[in-house]
Amino acid sequence: MTRFEILSVLLMACSSSAPVATGFRVVDSSGTVPSSATVGDALQLSVLQTFSDGTTKPVGSDATLVWSIPTVLALNPDATADTRLPSAGDTPTAFLLVNASRPDLTAALAGTVFFLDAGGTSSTLALDVHVTTSDADGHATASINVAATPNGDATHGQTVFKAACSTCHGDTGHGQGAPVQGTSPPKYTIDGADYLFPVPGLNAEPDNAAADPDWNAGLLAIAARADIDDGAVSLRLPMPSWMTTPNPVSQQPFTTQDFADIFAFLKTQTH
Ligand code: HEC
Repeated sequence: MTRFEILSVLLMACSSSAPVATGFRVVDSSGTVPSSATVGDALQLSVLQTFSDGTTKPVGSDATLVWSIPTVLALNPDATADTRLPSAGDTPTAFLLVNASRPDLTAALAGTVFFLDAGGTSSTLALDVHVTTSDADGHATASINVAATPNGDATHGQTVFKAACSTCHGDTGHGQGAPVQGTSPPKYTIDGADYLFPVPGLNAEPDNAAADPDWNAGLLAIAARADIDDGAVSLRLPMPSWMTTPNPVSQQPFTTQDFADIFAFLKTQTH
């Protein structure tokens, strides 16, 4: 080949080159950029790299993602330290969670954003993910309007609670009473097996969740999905994760409305 021919081949190779990377996009499980959420929601987000021909591909595991919202490290079940949950602010409060005591949740929690508070003066969460890969550096952003948890329907809540929670927490959400007689250290039978801790009460009796001002329907949704309590202390098995276990009534993933309904039911139960 002459020099001229070599040059032509090179030029042709360049003009038919692959599409170029144009940036990054943060999307929910339906593939769209999230624009709204309610308090209590768990939004599973992932980051795509975008290209000049309109195609996208998920960023690889080599990518570094730095989120503008905090990552809460759940406390271990015996911890007595102060809560690590962020406090409510003027703008919506959201966080990612690592719950090391519950390895069964690691995959489900990766990229899952929990909405804790709708904000005071502003209800828009400006989400920013700084993405670095071996050959690109950029930001994926979303502007998410965060609404308060919907009002609950106690009748529907009772139906769901009976099907999903009452085996362990009792029909009225009273929790578990005395340990198995004569056991030392005390043992509690939960769903057919023995444990060294009881099932807590959730209803409106004193000190239970539905009577405690620290709890609300949104927090119940987060707790039940992510297996943490209101102080970000990890909840032990056999407490299921209601993010990975469907609602037995609808056979669909639990909605935040389902948890609002359960909380409304628990608020009516005082024994
Ligand atoms: C198989 C038994 C089981 C089922 C079913 C179950 N839980 Fe639990 N739950 C537990 C246990 C055990 C704990 C305590 C774990 C611990 O102390 O580490 C717990 C703790 C909790 C807590 C923390 C309460 C507090 O005051 O710290 C909440 C909230 C909760 N469960 C909600 C639910 C909801 C809502 C459902 C139904 C959708 C449900 N649970 C179904 C066993 C269960």
